[in-house]
Amino acid sequence: MGERCEILDIAIMVQIEARFERMVQQILGQNWAVIDDLWPPPMLSALCQQLKALSAAESLRQAAIGGSDRATIHRDIRSDLIAWWPDAPTDPHQQAYLDRIDALSAYLNRTCFAGIRNREFHFAIYPPGARYARHIDDFQNKNARLFSLITYLNVGWQPKHGGELIIYGEDDLPVTVEPVFGRTVMFPSAEIEHEVLRSHKDRMSVTGWMRN
Ligand code: OGA
Ligand code: MN
Repeated sequence: MGERCEILDIAIMVQIEARFERMVQQILGQNWAVIDDLWPPPMLSALCQQLKALSAAESLRQAAIGGSDRATIHRDIRSDLIAWWPDAPTDPHQQAYLDRIDALSAYLNRTCFAGIRNREFHFAIYPPGARYARHIDDFQNKNARLFSLITYLNVGWQPKHGGELIIYGEDDLPVTVEPVFGRTVMFPSAEIEHEVLRSHKDRMSVTGWMRN
C-alpha cells in the first residue's frame, strides 16, 4: 500500500514537471509563458474566496510603485489594491500555492541554472477603473526579481470586463493575455515590458516574483 502511494506520488510529480517543462519551452522560445492547467481549481477557488473576504473587510492597501512615498500621484499609473502573503503562510491554500512555486523554482534552477533563491507573492485586485501603465517589474535588476508570475482568479471573465494583460514581446509586438480563472503567466522580470488595461470589474490575481 505504501509503495502504491509512492508510485502515485511519482506519477503526479512527473505530470507536474511536464507542465513546468512546457513553461520552460515557451520562455526559451518567446520569453514569456502562459499556462492554464498549473493549479488544482479548488485551491484557486479557495484563494479567490480569501481575496474577496479581504476586499470586503477593506484589508487591502493601495499598491505603490518604486517604493515611493508619493504613491497617490501615481494612482493613474497603477491603481490596484494588494495584500502581501507571509513567507510561510499558516493558510494551507497559500502554502500549497507556494509549495508548487518552490517546486517550479527548483526545476528552473536544476534545468536552466536560474539562480532563484527567494520569492514574494501578494493578492491583487484591480477595482473598476484600475489599470497599470506599461512598465517593467525589475528595472536594471534593482529589486533582484528574476521572474514575474501572475495567476488569475476571475471566474466567468468576459472581454467586456477588460483588464487584459498586454505583453510587449519580440519586436515590441503586443500580445494580449485574457485574465481568465486559473491562467498563469510568467516572464523574466527585467526584460518584458507589460501593462494592465483598464478593468471594468474587480480583477483578481495572485502576483509574485522569484528572486535571486
Ligand atoms: C504587476 C503586474 C500584471 C497583471 O503587478 O507588476 O504587472 O496581469 N501585473 O496583473
Ligand atoms: Mn508588472
